[in-house]
Amino acid sequence: MSIQFDAQTKTFRLETLKTSYVMGISEYGHLLHLYFGKKIGNDDIRVLFAGKIKTGFCPVPNGCDKKYSLNTLPQEFSSDGVGDFRYPSITVVNSDGSYAFEGKYEGHRIYKGKYRLDGLPSLFANENEKADSIEIDLKDSVTGVCVTLYYGVFEEKNIITRAVTVKNEGSLPVSLRRIMSFSLDFRRSGFDFIHFYGHAYLERLTERQHVTHAACEISSAKGIPGHEHNPSVILCDSDATEDFGECYGAALLYTGNFLCGAKLDQFNQTRFVMGINPEKFEFILGCKDKFTAPEAVLSYSSEGFAVMTHQFHDIFRENACKSKYMKQRRPVLVNNWEATRFDFNGDKIVDIAIEGKKLGADLFVLDDGWFGKRNSDSAGLGDWTVNREKMGGELSDVIKRVNDAGLMFGLWFEPEMINEDSDLYRNHPDWVLKIPGRNPALCRNQLVLDITRPDVREYLIKSINDILDNNNIEYVKWDFNRYLTDVYSLLADSRHQGEVFHRFVLGFYNLLDSIILTHPDILFEGCSGGGGRFDGAMLCYQPQIWCSDQTDAVWRTKIQYGTSFAYPVSSMGAHVSACPNKKTGRTVSFKTRAAVAMSGTFGYELDTTKMTDQEKEECAHYTELFKKYYDIITFGDYYRLTSPFSNSGYCAWEHVSKDKSECLVTVVTLEALPQEHTAYIKPKGLDENAIYIIEGADIKLTGKTMMNAGIPFNMFIGQYESRQYYIKKI
Ligand code: DGJ
Repeated sequence: MSIQFDAQTKTFRLETLKTSYVMGISEYGHLLHLYFGKKIGNDDIRVLFAGKIKTGFCPVPNGCDKKYSLNTLPQEFSSDGVGDFRYPSITVVNSDGSYAFEGKYEGHRIYKGKYRLDGLPSLFANENEKADSIEIDLKDSVTGVCVTLYYGVFEEKNIITRAVTVKNEGSLPVSLRRIMSFSLDFRRSGFDFIHFYGHAYLERLTERQHVTHAACEISSAKGIPGHEHNPSVILCDSDATEDFGECYGAALLYTGNFLCGAKLDQFNQTRFVMGINPEKFEFILGCKDKFTAPEAVLSYSSEGFAVMTHQFHDIFRENACKSKYMKQRRPVLVNNWEATRFDFNGDKIVDIAIEGKKLGADLFVLDDGWFGKRNSDSAGLGDWTVNREKMGGELSDVIKRVNDAGLMFGLWFEPEMINEDSDLYRNHPDWVLKIPGRNPALCRNQLVLDITRPDVREYLIKSINDILDNNNIEYVKWDFNRYLTDVYSLLADSRHQGEVFHRFVLGFYNLLDSIILTHPDILFEGCSGGGGRFDGAMLCYQPQIWCSDQTDAVWRTKIQYGTSFAYPVSSMGAHVSACPNKKTGRTVSFKTRAAVAMSGTFGYELDTTKMTDQEKEECAHYTELFKKYYDIITFGDYYRLTSPFSNSGYCAWEHVSKDKSECLVTVVTLEALPQEHTAYIKPKGLDENAIYIIEGADIKLTGKTMMNAGIPFNMFIGQYESRQYYIKKI
């Protein structure tokens, strides 16, 4: 068992192959955090924490010894209002109006297998995979509010998951105002906080800050994680690199408002928290009601970011989503959006599909504009009936023509949205999020459906499933093109409006359960104006997510670099688009566009009917290459060899097969150099003593030579040019 409780020392130990996580129940019943890091011996480590800090202005719980303060001791789940002034893990307003929660140990349960959560996605253990769980109850004896901390231990994958439930076991209602999925205390400073920021068309750029006494904090209050911040972060040693230093990666499985923060306290201890954003959040818990906070995935590495990333990639590839496409090859797709926008008819899309086949595509995706009166973004959303006039007949006829051309067929939906100019809105104006007496804000001319309502969900499930069940649809792109404003449900009374943001997320997961999980043979791809909804919870339903509407290959090197810290390459929707790029006006060689898209799911986003035969041949060549390297790219270990944010003039990355027998190194030049210059690219993760050859080059070296001396890359090939090196063990 990877989880042990020592009744004598009252300590809990969670062990993976490389990490230890230790907690202890104090003499006064509080659960203290004793250690999380590189594997340690099975010692009684309470001695290390015996020295309590005695300082002024640090409250002591009544009846405890004078050096015992919740404000200085490392807490496993920090209390609120009773003496810990650092980030609280929970805020409860009790029925008497008091703000107080003091959790004391009540009991625990250790069991084999991975816990699951009610109504929220979470990681699962595969058959024959070792995973254990523990639940620890902490109760406030005055109010009866009981918090249960959940830990899942994936021993071989070096992953620990956390989640929390709050149950009102008292006799009066309470108001939950804040709930973190985890809180981690470190009795040290010297951390950096790395997070992934951006905006639409430029998601998940990388920023690194030193953790000081001023909070490092990221959050979303937009209803979804959004483009501006991503619910994945890294707390690491200030000198940590790809190959060195301690890193604590955390990814929240939540598609709503989140908060993540790290801060030093007055004694230079660090507290690191992640959970639901308390802004505009309130949940009323009546007697016996239970609230479940989302799961957070922790990936610890003592050897730098690369190992942390590999652990994240393995768990998200193998333990999040049950789609058959997690194991089965995914089709290379061609999508009509950048080619046509709303301006198409049935013949045009069939033509794009037929020409797409010549590029080697396996799947054609019909994007926005096939339903209702959807000829621009101002009408039709919500009316999930085929626009027969535009399509020139039934959808099934068009699908048949695409299938006859040898391609699978995929379709776009944006279920949670509605245009005022739609039959749905005309019939159900009360089905949207809006505050009585105010005109709700529009964004892309659309409003948001109130999917906290069962009747709205029922309509969506029925109308979408009807289309999926009556047509040969093998792929769905599920889009979401605005943030939430005017968050108010006409179904809820005024006391419960603080619940709407979270209930919206629960409603969304219910839609996914009823549409995605009931169609196991369809490949679902997430999307939100590009990558506004890219999080671990989505990966529990959808193997891939459209990374960004920014298809400029140079910007993509930065977007995909940031995305790769937590999320696997196999989850990153990446396509080749036409040049000059529609968003940036930049022209990048086809080869580079293909090389960058290959570090993702690969596909095309262009008008295949406007390409020359030579261009089509070139495309077919790169599709073939992608298919050749598919297994290394999709299932291998990913290494960031250099950062696209550095001033080296190039960026490089690598995919290595798990058995180290082959790898693919990609290098893109970001600058035009004034003179010849050779950079030495050092691959990683090879077998030191094996001999490797680089395909197409006269280079044959041992793994250790290649990894330490590097392979020569002539940077004088021009700006935005690229090379790919396929390296094979002989
Ligand atoms: C936003 C997506 O990111 C695009 O790829 C496209 O599907 C449009 N929505 C369609 O409205």
